[in-house]
Amino acid sequence: MDRVSAVEAFAFERFNGIDDIKWRTRAVYHSHAVSLLCALLARKRGLDPEVAAIAGLLHDLYAYERRDYTDHAHRGAARAREVLGSLGLTTPAEDALITSAIYHHDDLTVIDGPMDELLKDADLIDNALSHPAREIKANEAARIDRIRAELGI
Ligand SMILES: [Fe+2]
Repeated sequence: MDRVSAVEAFAFERFNGIDDIKWRTRAVYHSHAVSLLCALLARKRGLDPEVAAIAGLLHDLYAYERRDYTDHAHRGAARAREVLGSLGLTTPAEDALITSAIYHHDDLTVIDGPMDELLKDADLIDNALSHPAREIKANEAARIDRIRAELGI
């Protein structure tokens, strides 16, 4: 099994244990969507699509396991480090990229490293652009403009 599929199997097993159907459905849908968008953006930007897809799959795992978004990016980075360590599929350098991206993914108005930025953008595309009637929040506007310009949409 390839590494993305292995992480996907782990994450979806965790998500399928969520009692509440809304949280469970959202966990599977959003994690898949962000992982897909991460892989696509990584190919466009010359980054590693496998590492990007894994970051997308794990970026909100902590929040879904706890049903709690409090400080979920920082806590989620620690949770992802645990998961990556237990799965043993990734190198220390890849773990550093993935956990950094998850740590920073809520800092939408700050520019961080390329993989950090990629996860922020993939998350925002699913959260905002996939729901065209949803109101754009103040901290999302500039980033959405940049994504639209990059993708020509
Ligand atoms: Fe997310």
